[in-house]
Amino acid sequence: MQSANGKRVFVQDVSARDGFQMEPIFVPTSHKIEYINRLSRTGLAKIEVTSFTSAAAIPALADAEAVLAAVSRVTGVEYTALVPNLRGCERALLCRVDEVNLVMSASESHNRANLRMSCEQSLAQFETIVRRVQGRVHVNASVSTAFGCPFEGSISVTRVLELIDRIAQMGIERVTLCDTTGIANPSQVEDLFAKAKSRWPDIEFTAHFHNTRGMGLANALAALEAGIDRFDASLGGLGGCPFAPGATGNLCTEDLVHMLEAMGYQTGVDLDALLVISRDLPNLVGHDVPGQTAKAGPSTRRYPLPSDSAKRLQ
Ligand code: COA
Ligand code: ZN
Repeated sequence: MQSANGKRVFVQDVSARDGFQMEPIFVPTSHKIEYINRLSRTGLAKIEVTSFTSAAAIPALADAEAVLAAVSRVTGVEYTALVPNLRGCERALLCRVDEVNLVMSASESHNRANLRMSCEQSLAQFETIVRRVQGRVHVNASVSTAFGCPFEGSISVTRVLELIDRIAQMGIERVTLCDTTGIANPSQVEDLFAKAKSRWPDIEFTAHFHNTRGMGLANALAALEAGIDRFDASLGGLGGCPFAPGATGNLCTEDLVHMLEAMGYQTGVDLDALLVISRDLPNLVGHDVPGQTAKAGPSTRRYPLPSDSAKRLQ
């Protein structure tokens, strides 16, 4: 394993989008705003605030404009939003996002289930959006089901590299490879990211993992080994795609930060501040959340020696 040696790793929280989109209750707009404001002060590199999708498809994020209008933006934090089509892009631009996060799937069937488009139609939307944006804001392309699809099973490395090639040819310089339903394993992750990084050294790649089968942190390590230094993660481990059967929570932000900092990576994130916000999450969403560090406390936590053991030592 490579030595961390103080290397910078960028942590991007997606809980306000990937997390809240999956919640059965509508998190009130004012609560979302307060939550994002608190997250903004923890040192995260990027926050995915919401998505500009159809309210019928994702009712939980129907208040995208209101949320973005009211969030107090912190210098140094990028505010991004997921955009499925040109209409979504127009809405995002009006809200002065720093980045539009375009999305499509590597598999035809998930793209149709999620976006009601073929992959070719999604690529055409990407091209139209890049022309529309004209470099005014950053453009990121997220490729869902890049490590496997809940409908089709395996997705070949060739297929994913072909898609990145099409995306790169449009001039998009930021690409996220998403393990939408927690299918990826560490060997596969290291192989795919190493190939992508060596072919497109100038593309800023992000790894986006779901912890559906407990492989989230292992996959993050494998991506680090392949030279990836940007990770999407979700506070408390909230998250999931409503149009992907079996999808559950993302890699948990505070668990990721905790591991990276313990290994000697520099995330710039205040873990204690994240833990405080994470411990309030059950009140916000109305149920327990999967993240572990907020429950156990960081590994530096020390307990008082039980009194009978202390006496025996005297
Ligand atoms: N924002 C708001 N409304 C939108 C929209 C957008 N970006 N795109 C389309 N709509 C509206 C249309 O105006 C139309 O409204 P109407 O019924 O009142 O006339 C309705 O949505 C359907 O439009 P259509 O173009 O036929 O879209 P669709 O039904 O084929 O759905 C998407 C396509 C992409 C809009 C929809 O599938 C979607 O929002 N998916 C989001 C998936 C997602 O976020 N998944 C989780 C993250 S990966
Ligand atoms: Zn996701």
